[in-house]
Amino acid sequence: MTLRAIVTGSGGYLPERILTNEELSRTVDTSDEWIRARTGIGERRIAAADEVTSDLAVNAARDAMAEAGVGPGDVDLVIVATTTPDRTFPATAAIVQAKLGVENGAAFDVQAVCCGFVFALATAANFLAAGSHKRALVIGAETFSRIVDWTDRATCVLFGDGAGAMVLEAQDIDVDPDAPAAARGLIATEIRTDGRLADLLYVDGGVSSTGTAGQVRMQGNRLFRQAVDRIANAMVTVAERARIAPADVDWFVPHQANERILNGVVDRLALRRDCVVSTIAGHGNTSAASIPLAYTTARRDGRIKTGDLIMIEGLGGGLTWGAGLFRA
Ligand code: UT7
Repeated sequence: MTLRAIVTGSGGYLPERILTNEELSRTVDTSDEWIRARTGIGERRIAAADEVTSDLAVNAARDAMAEAGVGPGDVDLVIVATTTPDRTFPATAAIVQAKLGVENGAAFDVQAVCCGFVFALATAANFLAAGSHKRALVIGAETFSRIVDWTDRATCVLFGDGAGAMVLEAQDIDVDPDAPAAARGLIATEIRTDGRLADLLYVDGGVSSTGTAGQVRMQGNRLFRQAVDRIANAMVTVAERARIAPADVDWFVPHQANERILNGVVDRLALRRDCVVSTIAGHGNTSAASIPLAYTTARRDGRIKTGDLIMIEGLGGGLTWGAGLFRA
């Protein structure tokens, strides 16, 4: 028997306010045609003035806990992946823990920007597989609209706010070492960082440098050129560990940065076009929230079923990138 992290529930939350490409084109020099053609984005959500990241996270977490059929007393690990915390400290996870009424175990944030959810999921899966914790709430939550430079057309059209969550539970199950992907749960993850590429995507401020939160700065084209290679390599590594071919997955649930990046990965790895879960048109890039939001969307509309094999991937500031494979 092997102790494995099983995904028992997922949830999502999007703020009410919709910001369309049309509306953006009235404030910066852009157009609906350009944004759709270059990114696939049609609209994004923006958090209300009185909504903070932990509010979004709590809504997504409650949704995931309801599906998993667990209450606050059942959770002993809360990990929030975010780049837009409510405060410099305490961790947003600590605030979320208190708002949910979770009293056991530990809560902490993971900071890997748009790859944050993959990092957080890998972290939680390792805690659960080690037997130190029983049930984890893994959340990606962002109010990226608060750090976007709304005068910079190259970045402000890309990002949106939202939150997604998964409940993971440690279960002792039979895993065939020759076919690790046959059993449910987290099968393999790969997380990578190359700090030498930090200038591709960063904010120009910080607590100990400027004393401000800073605003997003990006060399989009250079980042784009890094994306397909690194994402595809991470997915191949994960597939090899799981003893499958990338094309064997039932669903590909990527970080939603750019439709052209998704298509590039699909072509590179010869995945079926119809296995891609894309929410980019309606959500934009919600950074750490995008993967669990997309997963929840496909779960709720009936595409992803229990037992399906799911590949996730992300790439973000740092540079961070990675992939993960689980059986739902
Ligand atoms: O989630 C984290 C990971 N993020 C990513 O991986 C993002 C990766 N990068 C990208 O998705 C793309 O690079 C972008 C969507 C950001 C940009 O697309 P691109 O095809 O790489 O465009 P570009 O930056 O090369 O710019 C092409 C042209 C430029 O004009 P000139 O210099 O050719 O005259 C830009 O000034 O498009 C112009 N441009 C715009 N035009 C209209 C840039 N932003 C806009 C805009 N509307 N919003």
